[in-house]
Amino acid sequence: MVQHCDVIIVGTGVAGLYCALNLPDDLHVRILTKQKAEEANSFLAQGGICVLRGEDDFADYYEDTMRAGHYENDPKTVELVLRSSNQVIRDLIRYGVRFDRDADGELEYTREGAHSKPRILYHQDITGQEITGTLLQRVRERPNVQIQENTTMVDLLVQEGRCCGVVAVGEDQRLFALQAGAVVLACGGIGGLYQNSTSYSHITGDALAIALKHQIALKDLNYIQMHPTTLYAKGKGRKFLISESVRGEGALLLDKHGQRFTDELQPRDVVSKAIWKQMQIDGTEHVWEDLRPLGEQVILEHFPNIFQQCLRMGYDVRREPIPVVPAEHYLMGGIAVDLASRTSLEGLYACGETSCNGIHGRNRLASNSLLEAMVFANRAADDIAFGCHGGRTAPVEEVPLPETMDLEQLFQGYADAVRKQIERLNQQ
Ligand code: SIN
Repeated sequence: MVQHCDVIIVGTGVAGLYCALNLPDDLHVRILTKQKAEEANSFLAQGGICVLRGEDDFADYYEDTMRAGHYENDPKTVELVLRSSNQVIRDLIRYGVRFDRDADGELEYTREGAHSKPRILYHQDITGQEITGTLLQRVRERPNVQIQENTTMVDLLVQEGRCCGVVAVGEDQRLFALQAGAVVLACGGIGGLYQNSTSYSHITGDALAIALKHQIALKDLNYIQMHPTTLYAKGKGRKFLISESVRGEGALLLDKHGQRFTDELQPRDVVSKAIWKQMQIDGTEHVWEDLRPLGEQVILEHFPNIFQQCLRMGYDVRREPIPVVPAEHYLMGGIAVDLASRTSLEGLYACGETSCNGIHGRNRLASNSLLEAMVFANRAADDIAFGCHGGRTAPVEEVPLPETMDLEQLFQGYADAVRKQIERLNQQ
């Protein structure tokens, strides 16, 4: 039996959740997510979310985004995202997101690398948890939206050149087909394919492999961002991020002799390269980051999560530098989309890190990702609600599904396909 709904969203990060909240409430929406709803990378974002600080800031913010992206960004997309940012922030505050404020109740702004001025809103150093957790609560209040956890998309349903649903494997390990008028892929990047990444390990780029299989257009799949500063730890597993806003507030990078070796506020790719070079010169597996210039009060009030996590790992950042090393953090490329988040396959949308709309160019400006994900999630919702879809496909009654499937082999094949494609592009 084929199950039916109006819209399928794959992923419970900010893109998937914000899309669901912006869809009309007479549409039946099913959100599939690989593990628990809270285990999406958006929950891990620390630094914050950028906002355009009035018309006077437009030229600077635009230039900062373009310069970080090596001017390979799509100018129309950059303008769209910047000009949509005030509305997104207003919406988040309306949903109940608590951004940090000063004693007079005014919003506070922090700064990160490659920003010419402070324009990043934050909630301590757990901005992702605050934003995504609030959106998840609001989604759970919607009777038209059902979240199905521990459910993994294994393929798309495609009929007469149109996406009409997905095949997925549920909690009971059985395959099922779910048909819908529109499918939104918002399932994150490829961090799980790396040994050293800030990502959850189950985020492995399945949607990208499925897109390759169906010849859906992809863009810049080899544009992968390393975050300069994750807490050094031996062994596999997710690496703990030391937010760039720590450097924005004055933390320094030091070599093994305790000397600075680079400007800490350059774009991420430049700082990562400087760190690798210094590690080579020093013959070390990391460099050091010194948070002491921030002072105890800023450390405890703005960065309590980083303080606690470092303490658990045996470092008191109030008193000593910590070892840091670059790790995979973000995929700028992905499934190519237009300004309405439409992919090259009719009926299929993509937003967030899964997609590539061109805003980031070759290297993303810090704290532009949550914003971009929400702007394009809203664009997808608008296109689904108001766009010209050219009619719905006829209901699918039967989809022949195998009784059993070697899922481990299938996902290994997907991972290999993505890796191979990245290698191929890197060799060009
Ligand atoms: C950070 O806090 O350094 C990460 C924020 C981002 O990826 O933009």
